[in-house]
Amino acid sequence: MNNKLYILLFGFFFISSAFGAVKYPMVLFEKDLSSSAVFIFHQDLSRPIDVVVTDESGQKFNYKSKGKNPFGVPCCVHEIELNNLQAGAKYKINVSGENRTFWFSTAKKTGRILLGGDSRSDSKMRVKMNLAIKDYVKKYPDTYALIHGGDYIKNGWSWSQWKCWLEDYQQTTSEDGRLLPLIPIRGNHEYLSFYFNSLFSRPSGGIYKNYYVSQWDDLSFIHLNTNLSHAGNQKDWLKRRLKELGHTSKWIIPNYHRPAFPGVKKPGDALRYWVPLFEKHQVDVVFESDGHVYKKTAPVFKGKIDHQKGIRYLGEGGLGVPLREPEKASAWYFSGDGRVEKKYHFFSLEKQLDKIFIQSVDENLKVFDSVQLQPRKR
Ligand SMILES: [Fe+2]
Repeated sequence: MNNKLYILLFGFFFISSAFGAVKYPMVLFEKDLSSSAVFIFHQDLSRPIDVVVTDESGQKFNYKSKGKNPFGVPCCVHEIELNNLQAGAKYKINVSGENRTFWFSTAKKTGRILLGGDSRSDSKMRVKMNLAIKDYVKKYPDTYALIHGGDYIKNGWSWSQWKCWLEDYQQTTSEDGRLLPLIPIRGNHEYLSFYFNSLFSRPSGGIYKNYYVSQWDDLSFIHLNTNLSHAGNQKDWLKRRLKELGHTSKWIIPNYHRPAFPGVKKPGDALRYWVPLFEKHQVDVVFESDGHVYKKTAPVFKGKIDHQKGIRYLGEGGLGVPLREPEKASAWYFSGDGRVEKKYHFFSLEKQLDKIFIQSVDENLKVFDSVQLQPRKR
């Protein structure tokens, strides 16, 4: 082999190995957990990359990724949008130049969704929780996604912290390449940072929105953004959605970061602007984050415990963050069967045909609390 050819070949292999690696592969769910998804990954070049998606029958669909170099993110973020998917189906993903095969499942009518929040400031514990989540999905393969209630990292403007979070999230991927789709919302530590939209495919649009509905068959998750005004446009949007979903969905579950019924801090504006709407439209349960404790309120309605019309607020953040003392432990909404304590946790929401069963799970996969819901009369 002459020297020039040798150098050319060496250069080709060097470039392939240096720039070819796929980093941080993730699936994001936004609008419909059964029929659409976004596959996102990072690579060192922006040119479109061939991606082949294979369905369960073996049919192959060819895509070219859209490579972007969004402001603040080192080159490059690649995306492909997947639409018209079948419910409860497995999709294999192969990226050109990458020898691993990834896969994910769309949601069936019944199954499980995980919820949690607050994974900042303790990477070691965050990895432990991510590994627990991976084991949980292995144990219960009908688990379709993780809804993250915000505060992924301490400083939403820091790329190095996001990079660490993205690396740690890879720990939720199974040994055989199953990706756990993420449904993201903003916490206060995301501020109005552009990274959230760049890394998570801007759910529902730009920085001044990021509130949206995710549909899972007859269940609607309403994801709200506590970094924006709770009144005005967001409240008007919430009112419209609640009215509409009251006719079309059996289950309505709001989810947002800063709590209305906190275990630690003062109540956020959700208490004034959103709780009266939740009560009027009789949502089923509400998920909150931010406090760094485990909490389950008693069922509350118009400032009192009410076992008929009351709504439970579950939370509030324990995916790998230093825990706090539950300073509001003596609040009226923790009486009865309510509880609040320092505990790492995530929730597993199991939707059955005519009921919902929510389990509270710790870092050792021990189920330490649960809530059962029947459909509401609206
Ligand atoms: Fe927070």
